[in-house]
Amino acid sequence: MLEARDSTPSRGLSTIPHATTVTQERIRTVVVDDHEGIARLVANRIATLIRERQAAGEPAVLGLATGSTPIGVYRELIRMHEEEGLSFANVVTFNLDEYFPMWPDSVHSYHRFMWENLFEHVDIDPKNVHIPRGDIPRGQVDEECRRYEDEIRRLGGIDFQILGIGKTGHIGFNEPGSGAESRTRIVTLDAVTRRDAAADFFGEDFVPREAVTMGVATILEAREIAIIATGEHKAFIVRRAVEGDVDVEVAATFLQGHSNTTFYVDRAAAAELTRIKTPWLLDEVQWTPDLTVRAVVWLSETTGRAILHLTQRDYAEHKMSSLVARYGTPGAVNGETFNALGAKIRGKSKLPRGLRTICFSPHPDDDVISMGGILRKFVENENHMTVAYMTSGNIAVFDHDVRRYVDFLQRLAHNGLGDAKVADAWANKVRAFLDSKKPGDVDIPEVLDIKRIIREAEAVSGIETIGLSEAAARFLNLPFYQTGKVRKDSVGPADVAIVRALLEEIKPELIFVAGDLSDPHGTHRMCKEAIDMALVEYAAAGNPRPEIWLYRGAWQEWPITEATWLVPMSQEELRLKIQAIFKHQSQKDSAPFPGSDDREFWQRVEARNKDTAAILDRLGLAEYFAMEAYVVE
Ligand code: F6R
Repeated sequence: MLEARDSTPSRGLSTIPHATTVTQERIRTVVVDDHEGIARLVANRIATLIRERQAAGEPAVLGLATGSTPIGVYRELIRMHEEEGLSFANVVTFNLDEYFPMWPDSVHSYHRFMWENLFEHVDIDPKNVHIPRGDIPRGQVDEECRRYEDEIRRLGGIDFQILGIGKTGHIGFNEPGSGAESRTRIVTLDAVTRRDAAADFFGEDFVPREAVTMGVATILEAREIAIIATGEHKAFIVRRAVEGDVDVEVAATFLQGHSNTTFYVDRAAAAELTRIKTPWLLDEVQWTPDLTVRAVVWLSETTGRAILHLTQRDYAEHKMSSLVARYGTPGAVNGETFNALGAKIRGKSKLPRGLRTICFSPHPDDDVISMGGILRKFVENENHMTVAYMTSGNIAVFDHDVRRYVDFLQRLAHNGLGDAKVADAWANKVRAFLDSKKPGDVDIPEVLDIKRIIREAEAVSGIETIGLSEAAARFLNLPFYQTGKVRKDSVGPADVAIVRALLEEIKPELIFVAGDLSDPHGTHRMCKEAIDMALVEYAAAGNPRPEIWLYRGAWQEWPITEATWLVPMSQEELRLKIQAIFKHQSQKDSAPFPGSDDREFWQRVEARNKDTAAILDRLGLAEYFAMEAYVVE
């Protein structure tokens, strides 16, 4: 690691005038630490508005969104209602959109979403709730949309509009091509949006093709707008919306023309903004050791030149002369960065030996997908390993796999390895259920159990591939996950108690935890929450805190600048890791929740581990075959 240096900006070598404070942000953007912080800010603003209007004897008209983004705001508003007496008696709401066709009582309906997540917990008058209708004949939709607009106007327009942003840059369901003049209407959903919704609908085929949405013009007429984005999967579209040109292909860019819009982003969603990613391009910066490494790596990648080959001119042309000035010569800053990166590389000989270690794997397969390489090295280094699978992962098993296993069990029984009568009765029950099952139906307990057991057997086979025995596996089956649905319960004391009991039993010196920010289902985040809470209790009971190594899930790898350790893998080690991933057969070929990446998990792993190694190679460090990355918390 680099030593901290004094932070006085130096002006020595720079030949380019220092940039004055400029910002490329065209929408007022507030970066908040996390989702909860944003929820509090936005809910406070709404509560203030509601109270002001109450005092004046007037209604407060809110424009509301659905999806994962605003749930925290709604939770906070409910808390304010329950604990602080915030009344919704004078509140009128208009929701942005609804799928079409869609029945209000469907689990997928935005009507149901709004009642479950907000309205039924507060004292709003149901007559004041407006949500576009998905349950009317197609021929009546245009008329209904006009009526919706008239109603907004009749009530004096929207005072405060909450928005999320889709990966296409949609606000509401204003997909690419939606113009600034568009009004409430029926639209065709973009393929990206349908794929993002696929997990909630138990498959892309079941996602409606159309939706009714307020138009861009309708949204822009709101007097105040709060648009929210959280998670690194939103980082690119946030940058596009905030810094890019206004374009009908990205509806959120129209907000640049609205005088009272604030974009609230958490750190992960802010990551691509120029002021966060490359702040030296905007203004003079304080060169901390971390920022120095990030900037030099960026310069090397931008110029295509290895770190040790970067010149004074490269630095000057990219507004980094002040950095050279601090070190005296480009060679000095190049060398220090090169060494800092090199020090992160930890082969087997530099990894721990003989430690009590727990790998917490949110689903059965995250262990081998994300850290199959280091697991193998830890086994070779004779660490005492426990792999704790936190959830059963049963919702991600296809029904056709259940049929295959049921058939297998029946055949076993009919071949004398079990009770044929019992097996038949049981198989018939499972088949009858699957035959009548509709998309989105929650499985009966027997099916949930079969799916869980399929994944447990795969997990054992996976760790056996890398040299661990079945005894190393623990299946925690945390209660928060056991809804049978994509939407989970909150993490509670029962979850924390299970994790804590394992910590007490193993007394680990080192633990691996999935540190995902962009897990599409939130399960990784929730598992981390349970571990964090259990660790607090564990430490309070006088136990020493284990070292925590964070790994990333199937979706992304730590950037090498953020990683504390980079762990190289040989060709054979990567092959073994992929073989372990193959053991998770129920997730092979096509996983039920693949996210927005069409490749199989093993293909993503291969690409990501080779890419990480290739980055170091391009920067001019050693040419490893593949690499995993870890952040020590
Ligand atoms: C929802 C809506 C959409 C979502 C957007 C982000 O009513 O209009 O624009 O806000 O798709 O969805 P999440 O919040 O689930 O990422």
